[in-house]
Amino acid sequence: SAVKTYNFDVQVKNISRLCHAKPMVTVNGMYPGPTIYVREGDRLRINVTNHAQYNMSIHWHGLKQYRNGWADGPAYITQCPVQTGQSYTYDMNVTEQRGTLWWHAHIFWLRATVYGAIVIMPKQGIPYPFPQPNSEFNLILGEWWNDDVEEIVKQGRKLGLPPKMSDAHTINGKPGPLFPCWEKHTYAIEFEQGKTYLLRIINAALNDELFFAISGHSMTVVEIDAVYTKPFSTESILITPGQTTNVLVRANQAAGRYFMAARAFMDAGLPIDNRTAIAILQYKGIPNTVIPSLPQLPDLNDSSTALTYNAKLKSLNSPRFPCNVPLKVDRHLFYTIGLGVNPCPTCQNGTQLTASLNNITFVMPQVGLLQAHFLSLKGVFTADFPDRPPMPFNYTGATFTNLQTTLSKLPRVSKIAFNSTVELVLQDTNLLSVESHPFHLHGYNFFVVGTGIGNFDPKKDPAKYNLVDPPERNTVGVPTGGWTAIRFRADNPGVWFMHCHLELHTGWGLKMAFVVEDGPDKDHAVRSPPKDLPQC
Ligand code: C2O
Repeated sequence: SAVKTYNFDVQVKNISRLCHAKPMVTVNGMYPGPTIYVREGDRLRINVTNHAQYNMSIHWHGLKQYRNGWADGPAYITQCPVQTGQSYTYDMNVTEQRGTLWWHAHIFWLRATVYGAIVIMPKQGIPYPFPQPNSEFNLILGEWWNDDVEEIVKQGRKLGLPPKMSDAHTINGKPGPLFPCWEKHTYAIEFEQGKTYLLRIINAALNDELFFAISGHSMTVVEIDAVYTKPFSTESILITPGQTTNVLVRANQAAGRYFMAARAFMDAGLPIDNRTAIAILQYKGIPNTVIPSLPQLPDLNDSSTALTYNAKLKSLNSPRFPCNVPLKVDRHLFYTIGLGVNPCPTCQNGTQLTASLNNITFVMPQVGLLQAHFLSLKGVFTADFPDRPPMPFNYTGATFTNLQTTLSKLPRVSKIAFNSTVELVLQDTNLLSVESHPFHLHGYNFFVVGTGIGNFDPKKDPAKYNLVDPPERNTVGVPTGGWTAIRFRADNPGVWFMHCHLELHTGWGLKMAFVVEDGPDKDHAVRSPPKDLPQC
């Protein structure tokens, strides 16, 4: 195995889209940032130097970071931020993972502009478990705001309201032909007739689940969140913020030009959305003058396509890549997801929107939780996050139950015994409004053993779980007005953040942390922190 080193210079750069230029935070002046190429088994060292005016941290979304939360990146959870003028080297080992992941800033809303792809190639000599593609492309879906995002967020906070939506979706940072100044800002790829391509699709958007489709071409899904799946063919994919999806596409259509499009899926949202991003797929030798046609995308609120699509995702579960879903559960957790309105004396209307898990709005600590745990510091967090909500109610029913969210003085975390098997049911509620929430767990992959609409029924639903080949991933969309059950083995000691990957909701407090205790010896315990770990 090799050591791969990258230098990330966090710097402000003028970037323009939609005929609007603005200074924004980037890595190495690039938008999206550089792609990390690494091979399974490699050691990866990324030197981050912060030359921006904001304190900064970067998360390697989906890398398991065994015993090594120090390199995970969420600010105030596993590290203090890297301050302006300072550096920190993220030092990590890439083990037992291969596929597409991504990295992004993990503080405030800076990930709006600070993100990039991670490509983990299989070990030398180990082929993919699907037809070898002739070539590949990364497609990172994102969002563009004409104005400074941190300013927009500040404004929203003052009003106690959601900050304004982005002005466009993007593919590799480019919105495409539906937007002004598109000639300079349309991403394009070239296909050669008869060849097979691997598209590595990443949803780096802040607040939107997205449908993605290509006109004239179907896609074969082969991997999600860097885990191989049973291949299946589809006309469109659904991808939530945080997720990645690898598809194979064959150049088997009439040589021409085709559109690839990413559009919001908002089942509880607005009836129209005019932010659809478009990129071009062009066969070799075809002139730029041919006008492509738009792909058939599911409707904005097509939750039935979303559910059907998700139901097709299955782990490959082959002898080489078995599915190790825990069959027996040591610890049962049930978390309700609620939105709400809390008093806010400093907000313009005297109230602000908020979000909670089991009625608890997570408060951020002042120092890194992992340091506090490692050094047994007192007074930083309390390990009393409840395993279930304060009272059962008709979670998704029409009866409005007013559960005022509670703010604690210290962040509340849940302690998990080393190597125990955990089942967590995430239950959406009608508190304020039912909505879909993409939940991401740091430090682990989990198995999505079940999902349904309405209230989870602990008597009937577990009998319907898929305990053979459930999809394994790091981010899962909990359906609007429904529930999702995940399982994982807590074999990675440390402090691991779990949150909704809609930045809006994360900011409102839809997050918590697990403290997974050390194992029996020092090879199963959190390793010592690196010397250059940033201090608060
Ligand atoms: Cu992709 Cu905690 O984030």
